Amino acid sequence: MDLVKIKAQAKKEISVINNSRDLERWRVKFLGRKSALSLFFANLKNLSLIERREQGAKANKLREFLEELYRDNKERIAQQEKEIESWDISRPGTKAPTSHLHPLTLTLREITQVFSRLGFAIVEGPEIESEYYNFDALRIPPSHPARDMWDTLWLKSVSKKGRLLLRTHTSPVQIRYMEKHQPPFRIIVPGRCFRHEATDVSHDIQFHQVEGLMVDEEVSLANFKDIIETAIRGLFSQKVKIRFRPSYFPFVSPGVEVDIKIRNKKSGAQEWMEIMGAGMVHPDLFETVGYNKNLWQGFAFGVGVERIAMIKYNIPDIRLFFSSDIRFLKQF
Ligand code: DAH
Repeated sequence: MDLVKIKAQAKKEISVINNSRDLERWRVKFLGRKSALSLFFANLKNLSLIERREQGAKANKLREFLEELYRDNKERIAQQEKEIESWDISRPGTKAPTSHLHPLTLTLREITQVFSRLGFAIVEGPEIESEYYNFDALRIPPSHPARDMWDTLWLKSVSKKGRLLLRTHTSPVQIRYMEKHQPPFRIIVPGRCFRHEATDVSHDIQFHQVEGLMVDEEVSLANFKDIIETAIRGLFSQKVKIRFRPSYFPFVSPGVEVDIKIRNKKSGAQEWMEIMGAGMVHPDLFETVGYNKNLWQGFAFGVGVERIAMIKYNIPDIRLFFSSDIRFLKQF
């Protein structure tokens, strides 16, 4: 092998070496006793004196070059190996930022868990709803002033069941479920609702409700009171004070509202806060879905999920939930 080739190959091979074992192999191969260079030196004696001088000088230069190359790389690799050895693999790493659940998801999960334990199945319904399910079947005809209780976002389309809208509450799922199932049953319906409203600290155009519906042969307001008290105590505390107040919703009779006593954040005074509407299912609804209204009884309720979350986590403004403000979200 000639000197130019030896040099080229030595350079090429050393450039990819990254540990001292391979470097030692390289040294033996290019600078060792059996290397091409040593062979070259050994063969010098067969040359004429002039040639021997010339080639000998070249070979010496190459040897110096290779020795220097070796020293430089030895240093580089020693440095690298020292760094690797000083890695402490048991040292805790930098934590990658992890995601977590939104406060509304947490609250929804808690509510559904409490009711699951009480034997309620979880059911869902569409967010785009027809006028029929959202209003008419719930005894809220177009001319009825109670429609004003639900400021509605209407869509342009019309379906077989009337004009389409963004559901203003989860109550339409009561009708949808009863149309397809026979009692006895108990269900809850978590879901998003929409209203065409001016927003403020306690109103947003989108929010969540959990609807509840239990139908059986003998279901009374007393059953409702017991189940709801158990659920509310499960959600807040065993000691929370609960109040049932007469109220009006077209799809129940009698209708009630449920309040719990909470501490006012500013004044520190105790005050009642409404958390749900409820009542005994109106017999007309049973007729609408083809049930025998003399056989079945039931109660229904609708809880505002944001309300519950605001009380539980001390959140002052409902608009924070959908603000995507990372400073808010990071606290949960
Ligand atoms: N859907 C009612 C609302 O959005 C809440 C409600 C009241 C639901 C009474 C019920 C009920 O199931 O029985 O205001």
